[in-house]
Amino acid sequence: MSKLFNGIKIKNLELKNRIVMAPMCMNSSDKEGHATEWHFIHYPTRAIGGTDFIIVEATGVENRGRISSGDLGIWMDSHVEGLKKIVDLCHEQGAKVALQLGHAGRKSTIIEEDSIAPSAIAFDENYRVPKEMTKEDINTVITAFKEGAKKALEAGFDSIEIHGAHGYLINEFISPLCNKRTDEYGGSLENRARFLIEVIRAVKEVWPEDKALLLRLSAEEFAEGGHHVEETIEVVKLAVKEGIDAVDVSTGAVVPANINVFPGYQISYAEKIKAAVDVPVIGGGLISSPLMAEEIIQNHRADMVFLGRELLRNPYWPLKAAKDLREELTYPHQYDRAKY
Ligand SMILES: Cc1cc2nc3c(=O)[nH]c(=O)nc-3n(C[C@H](O)[C@H](O)[C@H](O)COP(=O)(O)O)c2cc1C
Repeated sequence: MSKLFNGIKIKNLELKNRIVMAPMCMNSSDKEGHATEWHFIHYPTRAIGGTDFIIVEATGVENRGRISSGDLGIWMDSHVEGLKKIVDLCHEQGAKVALQLGHAGRKSTIIEEDSIAPSAIAFDENYRVPKEMTKEDINTVITAFKEGAKKALEAGFDSIEIHGAHGYLINEFISPLCNKRTDEYGGSLENRARFLIEVIRAVKEVWPEDKALLLRLSAEEFAEGGHHVEETIEVVKLAVKEGIDAVDVSTGAVVPANINVFPGYQISYAEKIKAAVDVPVIGGGLISSPLMAEEIIQNHRADMVFLGRELLRNPYWPLKAAKDLREELTYPHQYDRAKY
């Protein structure tokens, strides 16, 4: 029996299979961050295709926390309706849905607002020099994460993923390459992780205890002086102590770097993190073959596998994967006659 199609339970999140749709910015919201028709078609299509756990794209807890003006937002009450529609449409097709809560930090390209970061260092010459955050800024953003989580609950999301990867604000605090602060938010690893920990605590004040709270991290920064998986494991341990229920392992984008990508290029990091902590780990990166996904789970290299670009190309990937792995999958009745 395949493990990819063997369910998993994280808190009260009961999943029928272990295929996860990776969060992917669609650059399709209106200028104020509201969901549009694109989202109402894009996400439910993957649910129809058999993906059981969908992580909705990075969604800004502040306007200045969006990567671009095409990103979804969750800082206004008016954002809830569209997000709820995404959730309801996916639920109708039997999938569970998480929202990735994020803040772009120094990588925000919202020109109407200053970009902010732990230190006034630009990502590269194409980005603005961000404003170094004061304690007040830090508290404002932490509150924005909490308010975002409250709205995500209102919208009916089954889970939240805190975006601590890819060189956005939380990752900027964690990384010694972009955090040069000398206060309690900089210096030691524990200090650099403080902002993340305070975000987790704030989110948990409003996010129900029985609902899964996920964290995405860049396990490897591919740069001298940056974090490698050993340091990331320490961050994960601190986060798990605060109640993170699963870790989604990505890499890179913290500073400009050359990355050698190949099928499964991030799985060894997921595997090491999985060996170090007692919560489920989601791994992925250039996965396109069902056998490869199956191998990763059977060999305990990750508990679930995320697919990004493959699901953009092929929203019905799980239907074919089930056939390849000789599993019987329930199709939407409208597609029953198309069964492999
Ligand atoms: C169009 C696109 C948008 C993305 N947006 C996000 C995002 O919003 N949040 C995030 O954590 N990662 C984002 N990513 C990274 C993916 O989640 C995923 O980690 C990456 O594409 C590697 O997986 P893949 O090889 O299966 O595509 C994005 C990737 C793509 C291709």
